[in-house]
Amino acid sequence: SGKHKVAIVGSGSWGTALAKIAAENIAARPDEFEPEVRMWVREKQVHGRNLTEVINTTHKNERYLPDIKLPKNLVAVGQLKKVVEGASLIVFVVPHQFLHTVLFEFQTPGVITPGARAVSAIKGVEVNGTDISTFAALIENKLDIPCSALSGANVALEVAREQFCETTIGCPTHDDSLLWHAVFNAKKFQVQTVEDVSGVSLAGALKNVVALAAGFVDGMKLGGNTKAAIIRIGLKEMAEFTAEFFPGSQLSTFTNESAGVADLITTCTGGRNAKCAKDFIRTGRPWEAIERDLLKGQKLQGTATAEEVYNFLVTRKRTHAYPLFVQTYKVAFEGLAPDQLFEL
Ligand code: NAD
Ligand code: 13P
Repeated sequence: SGKHKVAIVGSGSWGTALAKIAAENIAARPDEFEPEVRMWVREKQVHGRNLTEVINTTHKNERYLPDIKLPKNLVAVGQLKKVVEGASLIVFVVPHQFLHTVLFEFQTPGVITPGARAVSAIKGVEVNGTDISTFAALIENKLDIPCSALSGANVALEVAREQFCETTIGCPTHDDSLLWHAVFNAKKFQVQTVEDVSGVSLAGALKNVVALAAGFVDGMKLGGNTKAAIIRIGLKEMAEFTAEFFPGSQLSTFTNESAGVADLITTCTGGRNAKCAKDFIRTGRPWEAIERDLLKGQKLQGTATAEEVYNFLVTRKRTHAYPLFVQTYKVAFEGLAPDQLFEL
């Protein structure tokens, strides 16, 4: 038909909030987009019914984003391959530990439509020994389609409640920028595009490590000065790490864009990583128990990223250059006393 067809791969709290925005935008532009937006939902029983059925009849994701009304052109689909059938624009938004399984299914020939484009809204990085790459690069390599990166100061529930905020989309080309801007830009969700896929991706991944440190500060009952110091040092390490290992990315993504400084602020105050890290200091419970208890099925991303980044720095012999990342990892995983966080 020549019209774009959008698919959303993921339906957690952020997946559902992004799907809502995209489906609303698309419904208003029938000349450019196929009206139906499919969203992949990993099947689950909710009050004895399938989650897909619940979403498609109540138009609410009772499990991950309750009380938020979803547009009727957003359709929950349980089979992964069916979600991307004929799709020209594919949004990846599963928690980062599940991306490989999804990509494996999509690598079957004929599943991804030739000429499709992708965007990743996943916060994390791919580490393999001495190698590090973004999820956008991983998606590009595995599926042979261009991939952008969306990241910003976007706590899902606040976005879903249509509180004004901004996001950043890092795109490989101008054409990608125009398309993704059309899919996501809204009055209460202002999109800025930059030609910096790796900067946007790394900002989103590394801020989750700093969020743990900020949560440790809360757990130690320290105040705003200390939190601000952690945010400053964290932003500096995030930008330096990205400049060192992803040359060509832009410092301005960190200083000027929502994906940089703004996301760091929201995540260090209202995010799940900070909340769980505070509980970790208060209770000393294992991370799995904290995640289960406080997030109720949502997924913690920062602990795995802290571990991956630390292991990468060890193999590259660069731990001394990123003391906050290293101390955060050691408090989280090696029993380092919390006040040693400041031995930088
Ligand atoms: P979430 O934390 O709400 O996690 C729940 C999702 O994980 C559900 O869709 C569930 O089906 C899925 N899941 C659980 N086990 C699975 C398995 N074994 N295989 C596949 N899927 C499984 O998810 P989210 O908040 O939508 O997070 C997705 C990404 O978006 C993350 O990288 C996160 O950092 C990022 N993000 C989240 C927010 C937010 O506020 N929630 C904001 C911006 C970015
Ligand atoms: P948390 O995963 O820590 O809640 O952060 C959400 C987020 O990415 C806000 O932009």
